[in-house]
Amino acid sequence: MVSPSALLACPPTEASAPRLPRQADQRELQAGLLDRPAHIDPKFLYDALGSSLFSAITQLPEYYPTRCEAEIFERHGADIARHAGTAQTLVDLGAGDCAKAERLFPALRPRHYVPVDISADYLQAAVRRLRLSYPELRITPLGQDFSQSLSLPADIPEAGRLFFYPGSSIGNLDPDGALAMLERIRALCPDGGLLVGVDLVKSSAILEPAYDDALHLTAAFNLNLLRHVNAVLDADFDVDDWRHVALFDRRRSRIEMHLEARRNVRVAWPEGERLFAAGERIHTENSYKFTPQAFTALLERAGFASVRHWSDSRGWFSVFGARA
Ligand code: AVI
Repeated sequence: MVSPSALLACPPTEASAPRLPRQADQRELQAGLLDRPAHIDPKFLYDALGSSLFSAITQLPEYYPTRCEAEIFERHGADIARHAGTAQTLVDLGAGDCAKAERLFPALRPRHYVPVDISADYLQAAVRRLRLSYPELRITPLGQDFSQSLSLPADIPEAGRLFFYPGSSIGNLDPDGALAMLERIRALCPDGGLLVGVDLVKSSAILEPAYDDALHLTAAFNLNLLRHVNAVLDADFDVDDWRHVALFDRRRSRIEMHLEARRNVRVAWPEGERLFAAGERIHTENSYKFTPQAFTALLERAGFASVRHWSDSRGWFSVFGARA
């Protein structure tokens, strides 16, 4: 899956974009580790093992967003499709294995499908399968990190573009980043629309276990980031020195994930080092939760209109539909 807040923009390429340059990743990691408090961008959660761990997380009983979103499309799919109108082109942001969008094909009946994902290899395998199942559908896979800039090739018609941004990945961006992302999408759909999955504010008793589950899969997902950092930066993090922390900050309306030093720790890499005192934390991810009013206002600020939302039976998650 695409990293929700990667930093560099890559030009769109037909499914063969290179991963972000290693040196830029190294500079960014070093700056984050030397900052006070230290932080690491959540894109580093998603190496191959991290992506598999995230996929497993979506099946946990505690991690409700994936199931809630599927329930919404199952129960309200026809209404959502009516509101979205005829989608000539379905642009799927963070498409991964394309499975979520594929479930919408019967209702939306797009002529052209444009899956966008930073992992071009992953996309290629999914697209090969889709081409066999939907020989009539034009498919243009794009290997692109759309988190800082988004552009579509000139041969994708402007009219009738419907953007699809599921999974509440918008919540992994900070408020300015989320607004900028929605503005980028709005700029690319003069007469189209957007479907976006959004996690809602609710009790900490539901939110915190979703990010700190009994099987400790989310802990493994968070700790695995240190192994990824070791590989990219040639650092010497020992996973045993750290513990996973997830808490809901109601004032900021976000789940925060951190890694906390279990003891005094020295971490070194070729260009530097950092001493962490016991209890000191590295901030690794935010996951913002919205009220329907707040997200509607955000969409309207970005230039969208006719905003509607559909929720699951417990009112934990919403899919927003908006027209350009
Ligand atoms: C990808 N993103 C929407 C997930 C979330 O819920 O914020 C990432 C995640 N982090 C821990 N669990 C899941």
